[in-house]
Amino acid sequence: MKASEIRQKFLDFFSAKGGSPPKADGPLAHASGGKGHTIIPSAPLVPENDPTVLFTTAGMHPLVPYLLGEDHPGGKRVANVQICLRTDDINKIGDNRHLSFFEMLGNWSFGDPASPDGIGAAGYFKKEAIQWSFEFLTDKKWLGLEPKKIYISVFEGDKDAPRDEESIRAWQEQFAKVGISAKIGDWQKGIKKDERIFLYGKNKNWWGPAGEIGPCGPDTEMFYDSGRKHNLSFGKVCHPNCDCGRFIEIWNDVFMQYNKRADGKYEPLKQKNVDTGMGLERVAAIMQNKETLFETELFWPIIEVIEKIANSNYKLHVSPKDPALFPKRAGPTGQVSYRIIADHLRAAVFILAENIEPSNVDRGYILRRLIRRAIRYGKQIGINSFFTHKIAEVIIDLYKDPYLHLKKNQDFIIEQLVREEEKFRQTLEKGLKLIESKKIFDLYQTYGFPPEMVFEELDKRGIKYNKENLKKEFDEEFKKHQELSRTASVGMFKGGLSDYSEIVTRYHTATHLLLAGLRQVLGEHIFQRGSNITAERLRFDFSHSEKITTEQIKQVEDLVNQKISENLPVKVEEMTDNEAKAKGAIGVFEQKYGERVKVYTIFSAKTNEIFSQEICGGPHVRSTGVLGKFRIIKEEASSAGVRRIKAVLE
Ligand code: ALA
Repeated sequence: MKASEIRQKFLDFFSAKGGSPPKADGPLAHASGGKGHTIIPSAPLVPENDPTVLFTTAGMHPLVPYLLGEDHPGGKRVANVQICLRTDDINKIGDNRHLSFFEMLGNWSFGDPASPDGIGAAGYFKKEAIQWSFEFLTDKKWLGLEPKKIYISVFEGDKDAPRDEESIRAWQEQFAKVGISAKIGDWQKGIKKDERIFLYGKNKNWWGPAGEIGPCGPDTEMFYDSGRKHNLSFGKVCHPNCDCGRFIEIWNDVFMQYNKRADGKYEPLKQKNVDTGMGLERVAAIMQNKETLFETELFWPIIEVIEKIANSNYKLHVSPKDPALFPKRAGPTGQVSYRIIADHLRAAVFILAENIEPSNVDRGYILRRLIRRAIRYGKQIGINSFFTHKIAEVIIDLYKDPYLHLKKNQDFIIEQLVREEEKFRQTLEKGLKLIESKKIFDLYQTYGFPPEMVFEELDKRGIKYNKENLKKEFDEEFKKHQELSRTASVGMFKGGLSDYSEIVTRYHTATHLLLAGLRQVLGEHIFQRGSNITAERLRFDFSHSEKITTEQIKQVEDLVNQKISENLPVKVEEMTDNEAKAKGAIGVFEQKYGERVKVYTIFSAKTNEIFSQEICGGPHVRSTGVLGKFRIIKEEASSAGVRRIKAVLE
C-alpha cells in the first residue's frame, strides 16, 4: 500500500464517510459508523502563533488554543496530516526508523461531549479513540495489520495521575474481540505468553505540555512487532520500548485531561481532549514489508538519484549488519550516508519552502546544519561536486502532490541550496588546510568536520595521532556544548504557551492588518513571504524589491491604526480552498489534503467593505479595537526581492 493511499484511507476513515468503505456498486457509506471528523489542512512547519518552538514538532502545536477551549470552526473533532520536524534525535537518523522531517496522521477531540455514532455515550475520549485506532490498524477494510503483531504501552501511574485503567480496559476489550488475551506484563522481565500491554512511567507514556505549562496527559502507544531478533547489546530482554529495533512505535493516542500549572501541579482539565499521532513513513514501511523507511516510495527515488550522482549502488554499499542499529554503532559509511542525505535534504526542502534561509541562529541554524551534514555525508560516499539542488528537484517532484507550496517556491529552494553549498565548500577547503593545527572539536564546530572525517584526512596525509585520546577529547567537548545548547533551548519554553497566547493572538491579527495596509499603499504585488511573532513584536517578510520610504511607512501605520480605531469585527468562516480563492482570499500555504480552510475577514460592519481577507489557521481577536497602537519600528531588506518589517503594539 502506497503512502498516498494510507493518507487518504486515514482521512476517509475519520471523516464523515469513514467507518465502512464505499460499496463497489453503491453510494458512499452512510455517516452512521463514520467517525464524523472535519478534515483540516496541515499547518506550516514554522508555527504562526507559537513562539515557544522553532518548528512544529507535533500536530498539537498549532491546535493548542483549541485544546484549551477555543472553538474550532471545524467543530469538536478534526483529523489531519501534519508535517513535523524534530532534530533532537539527529544522531539516530540513518537507522531503520528515525527521521527529522515526517508526516503525522492525527485525529482529535476538542472535548467532544457528543457521540453521534452511538459508541461511548460519554463522548469521544479514551474508549472511542482506542476502538478506532484498533479498527483502523487491524480491519481488513483499512490497514489490515495482524492484531497479534500489535503491542501496547500504557501509563503506569505516579503521584500526579493514577494508572490509566480506562485505557487498559479499552485495549483488552478490543483484543478480546479478535480472540486475543491481552494480559499486562512487566517489561523488565521481558514478554511472556499472552502478555501484550506494558506499563511505563511519564518518560514514555505522558505527552505535553507544549511549553512549561498547559494541557497534557497520559498516552497509550501502539507498537508493531517486526519479528526481528532481539539484539542483546540493548539489554537482556526485549519489550515494546526496547531500542533494538524489533518493535516499531507507530501510533500514539494522547489523552489530554490535565493542565500543568506554573507551580508544577497537575489539575484536571475541564475539557478532555484526544490528540493522536501516527507516523506515515513508519506505517508505509510496515505495509510494504520494507526493512527500513528509506526503501519505501517516499524515499527510494531520492536514494536512486544519490546513487546516480555518487556513481555507486546503495545495495552494494557496506550495509550495517543490522539496519536497526544507530548509525553510531553501524559506522558512518555506506547505506547510512545515503539515508542521512535523503532525510536531511527532504527536511531542508520543506523548511526552505517556507522561506527560511540558512543562518547561524534559530531556524536558519537548524536548516544550515541539515544541509551541511548532508554535504558531509555526501563526501563519505564520494560526492565532491555540487549536488544538493539536484536532489531537491527530485524531492520537490516527489512531494509536489499534496504539498503544492514546494513547486511554488522551487526557485527560492534551489537558489538557497546552491548558495549554501558554495559557502560550505569554501569553508571545507579552508578547514582542510587547518586540519593539523586545530583542536578536534573546533574542526567540528567551526568547519563541520566530524571526527571520522578528521581521522580519514590525517591518515591520507600519513600523520600519526592517538585516536583514542582525540575521541575522548571530542566526546567531552561535545557533551559540554550539548548541555549549553539544551539550557538555551529550555529558555525558549519558559512561560509556556498560555502566557503568550493573548498577546500573540493580537499580533497575529495586526499582521493581517499590516499586509492589507501594505497592499493598499504599495500595490497588490505584495504577498507574505514569512511571519514570526513573539510576545514583544511581529516580524513580517513580504515580496517587494524597493526600500519603503518614511512617508509610505507612515501611511501604512496610519491606515492600520485607523482600522484599529474603527474596531472592525474579525469574522471567521470555513470553506473549501477553491471557494476561498474564488472570494479573493490570500494565503501562503497550499496543499491538497484537508481542502476545508478557515478564512479570516476584517471588514467594516456598516459598509460591508472588506479590508483584509486571508486563508489562515488563526486564532485571531474578535474585533480590532483591542489591538492598541500599532507602530513600525524597522524596515529593511530580508533577501533578494523581499523586505522585512518589524512592528509593535503599544
Ligand atoms: N502529540 C502526540 C505525538 O506527537 C500524538 O506523539
